[in-house]
Amino acid sequence: MTNSASHPRQILVTSALPYANGDIHLGHLVEYIQTDIWVRFMKMQGHQCFYVCADDAHGTPIMLRAKTEGITPEQLITQSYQQHLHDFQAFHIAFDNYHSTHSDENKYLSASIYQRLQADGYITQRTISQAYDPVENMFLPDRFIKGECPRCGNADQYGDNCEACGATYNPLDLKNPYSAVSGSKPIKKDSEHYFFALPQFSEFLQSWLQSGHLQEEVSNKLNEWFKTEEGLQDWDITRDAPYFGFQIPETEDKYFYVWLDAPIGYMASFKHFCQQHTDIHFDDYWKAGSNTELYHFIGKDIVNFHGLFWPAMLKGAGFRTPTAIFVHGFLTVDGKKMSKSRGTFIQAKTYLQHLDPEYLRYYFATKLGNTLVDIDLNLEDFRLRVNADLVGKLVNIASRCAPRFINKIFHNTLSETIENTALLDTFIHAADNIATLYEQREFSHAMREIMELADKANTYINDQAPWKLIKETGQEKQVQAICSLGIHLFRILIIYLKPVLPVLAKKAETFLNIPPLQWQDIHTTLLGHQINTFNPLMQRLEEQQINTMLEESKHTTATTLSTTTTKSDTQSVEPIAKSISFDDFIKVDLRVAKIIKAETVEKADKLLQLTLDIGDNVPRNVFAGIKSAYTPEQLEGRLTVMVANLAPRKMRFGISEGMVLAAGPGGKDLWILAPDTGAKPGMRIK
Ligand code: 2FM
Ligand code: ZN
Repeated sequence: MTNSASHPRQILVTSALPYANGDIHLGHLVEYIQTDIWVRFMKMQGHQCFYVCADDAHGTPIMLRAKTEGITPEQLITQSYQQHLHDFQAFHIAFDNYHSTHSDENKYLSASIYQRLQADGYITQRTISQAYDPVENMFLPDRFIKGECPRCGNADQYGDNCEACGATYNPLDLKNPYSAVSGSKPIKKDSEHYFFALPQFSEFLQSWLQSGHLQEEVSNKLNEWFKTEEGLQDWDITRDAPYFGFQIPETEDKYFYVWLDAPIGYMASFKHFCQQHTDIHFDDYWKAGSNTELYHFIGKDIVNFHGLFWPAMLKGAGFRTPTAIFVHGFLTVDGKKMSKSRGTFIQAKTYLQHLDPEYLRYYFATKLGNTLVDIDLNLEDFRLRVNADLVGKLVNIASRCAPRFINKIFHNTLSETIENTALLDTFIHAADNIATLYEQREFSHAMREIMELADKANTYINDQAPWKLIKETGQEKQVQAICSLGIHLFRILIIYLKPVLPVLAKKAETFLNIPPLQWQDIHTTLLGHQINTFNPLMQRLEEQQINTMLEESKHTTATTLSTTTTKSDTQSVEPIAKSISFDDFIKVDLRVAKIIKAETVEKADKLLQLTLDIGDNVPRNVFAGIKSAYTPEQLEGRLTVMVANLAPRKMRFGISEGMVLAAGPGGKDLWILAPDTGAKPGMRIK
């Protein structure tokens, strides 16, 4: 299967499209790193392999988020696209194309797939009744309706299931329901919807599920759909206006549900790529019966979409179906769900400020297999593993052989002979097994094999002890041959690790004075070759760096609620907090306050010290975490709103006698509430 550069395969690979309303976090990165390693490996093998992805830009949460931020959805998705691209590049995720589902290509493909399905009788229509927000004039997705659980009565449960007792229900069954968008009581309203007739694909899907396209546990799970009494159901692909998405052809106010055009985004991204590479043809990869390969990497939460709806849509519209869908588990940190309060909800950009992305790429590789098992980022284990394997074992081989010996004594020249061919052969012969493990996504097993080889190389150098040999016997040729073999072994390990550590590999290529390494290069040896001076290739990971990152993570605003790799349609609208009684509410004394003085606080990154006047000649001292958004000069003289009766709190820098109200996702985007001109300090907000 592997090592077949002489029979290059044509492969198209995708990762799930991240929603455009959330930041990339370490949970997402499991998948992008897994896919990137696999793609880099395939490319190193000499196969033609393309990796495409895109932002998933449509849907209600994106529309509402833009509204909250006072920008258009187009502006929101443009910002998010830039940030996502930046994060991915920084983690060395090498997409061949990164596009957006809000694109011309996707609009065209979505409409044409829909029209093909319609022409063949796979689209049906009927009127359904749904919860409607009469204030916002919009239908409410289940997750935007809250109320009391019809089974156990717990308050503030989401529209489709109860977190307290686990009941699942129809949102219209909630007691005292309210809209999470406006707070109003939803009404029932009818509207006509379009459905994709999934049951018509029952036979096709059952045979598809049995044909090795999925991991066994996934096909077993999906097969359960066929065992239920109702079997497969029609899939509702319509959303009514207002909606941010593509209008359904020949309708006025109907839009495609985000999950209809999201997977089509895989095709659209590739189409966009083909437009820039005229030698690569879209049809070769997508037409029915194509003999190219198509793989989707996804998380276990979205298998229904990819294992049922998507192949049925492709089949119905006359396209090829995926060769395989590779499903992975979720990420936990220190054995628990990622959590903001523990600082373990770590965003890509926060990680990047403190740690080398290759640490994480390597650590994930040591944990990833080809099953749906969740993987744990144990932070202590992470530090120890990176230091022991990469710094202590791998880089150590080169740093023991080059600076003191090959660089200094032998003028950068490697020996003309191989000191121990048996050892070199052991390294070379490991290639096929390691390649098979990579191809099968058994990365953790591959990493163990590679580190066992690294141990062998270190043992060899220890046993030969060139530092003794040179002092005690002066056998220069022998010392040169030993250290050269060390370098040859190091080079082979770099080839094996290059899919995981592309930057370290690049630095090693510079040090070794060689062109970019390919898998086939294991069969050559650098006899008599001139290398360059060794420079440290990787730093140790210190505990303090991790602690600083965690501390900072506690303070970054989580713009995603879900802690898994890929999530539901609602990810980034903050949930409305548990309801309080009116009596509780009126206890809060909100006052207009004039900022008479604003100062920075020594050693505090986020705080400003404000002196506030609420008209009673008693200046209030308040510490507010708004330094990222305002300078003291911008604030002095302005009016704001404060909670005037908050009990004084002792903080590290002094006593805070109230709270200033501000809103926004954080960083620069944080706005203090400023009452319109005309307000006077002390006025009560009602
Ligand atoms: O679950 C999610 O995060 C979705 N945005 C994944 C879409 S994958 C594909 F189908 F587009
Ligand atoms: Zn309940």
